[in-house]
Amino acid sequence: MLIRYKKTYEKIAMGLLSYMPGEHSVKALQETIQKYETEDDWQLYLWKKGEDFIGLLGIEIDDDTYTLHHLSVNPSFRGEGIGKAIVERIQEQFPDKECLSTDETDDFLKRFISKEGGAD
Ligand SMILES: CC(C)(COP(=O)(O)OP(=O)(O)OC[C@H]1O[C@@H](n2cnc3c(N)ncnc32)[C@H](O)[C@@H]1OP(=O)(O)O)[C@@H](O)C(=O)NCCC(=O)NCCS
Repeated sequence: MLIRYKKTYEKIAMGLLSYMPGEHSVKALQETIQKYETEDDWQLYLWKKGEDFIGLLGIEIDDDTYTLHHLSVNPSFRGEGIGKAIVERIQEQFPDKECLSTDETDDFLKRFISKEGGAD
């Protein structure tokens, strides 16, 4: 289940974000979280399975597109189709928008989306 981020989830969100390349320092993680908390067009979601938050997705919304900036799954749950399910769920939420990728999310997205991405 995809759940919109709120402040009480900050620690678990930072933990999941830390699996992204380039998000290893506490400072970088705090800056990223801050962006999602303060900028309306940046939206962060957590994937909940049972009682546990095991995945994270962060997007930047635009008029006709949204860009997938962050996607991560707890290593204990990888390879079970959760990354794919998270991407599919957000596409259902924004059916009229094209999903774009960044350099970091492009390879994974290309597995599931036929359209060319590449926002950066
Ligand atoms: C990328 C990630 C979210 C995939 O989550 P997941 O739940 O394991 O994904 P799925 O089970 O739906 O898909 C797994 C498949 O994606 C592949 N895959 C994993 N990371 C990939 C990447 N960066 N690029 C392309 N393919 C990737 C796996 O090898 C696997 O392939 P297989 O099915 O042929 O064995 C997870 O590996 C992760 O959190 N990685 C660290 C964060 C990261 O690097 N994010 C940037 C990329 S989105």
